[in-house]
Amino acid sequence: MPLERTLSMIKPDAVSKQLTGTILQRFESAKFTIVAAKMMQLTKEQAEGFYAEHEGREFYEPLVEFMTSGPTMLLVLQGENIIPAYRELIGKTDPTQAAPGTIRADFAESTRYNAVHGSDSPESAAREIAYFFVDDEICAPAVS
Ligand code: PPS
Repeated sequence: MPLERTLSMIKPDAVSKQLTGTILQRFESAKFTIVAAKMMQLTKEQAEGFYAEHEGREFYEPLVEFMTSGPTMLLVLQGENIIPAYRELIGKTDPTQAAPGTIRADFAESTRYNAVHGSDSPESAAREIAYFFVDDEICAPAVS
């Protein structure tokens, strides 16, 4: 199985509820390796750029407002086949559709306040990781 990376975000709702440690424990229990981490309060420009593919959708402005409302923990996680494995661990975007035991089923309130973000493909992961991290901040050799 391929060794992959994903960009993970513990969103402002989960950070403000002091769920950061609980969520990190779930990542490590799943054998994901944390290879980079930092706290940031995103600026409007950073959030708009990150979610630019959704510009024009009805949820774009509420999403940007939410993502700039408080600190976010940004992480690069590494593991075998991690992109689908991570998405399974966090569950569907809408917590009412998320499988029991997933992070969003347990901690998300709605499709807006949904605790975590994950990349949806290797291409998005590469773009999203480069959006927030430079190579020197990633504590592992590059994966191919
Ligand atoms: S889509 O249609 O599949 O591309 O979109 P989806 O993956 O469902 O959602 C993309 C991101 O938008 C967030 N979202 C919202 N934010 C605020 N308000 C509303 N109503 C809303 N609906 C969706 C959703 O949490 C996704 O964020 P990320 O960070 O990508 O998980």
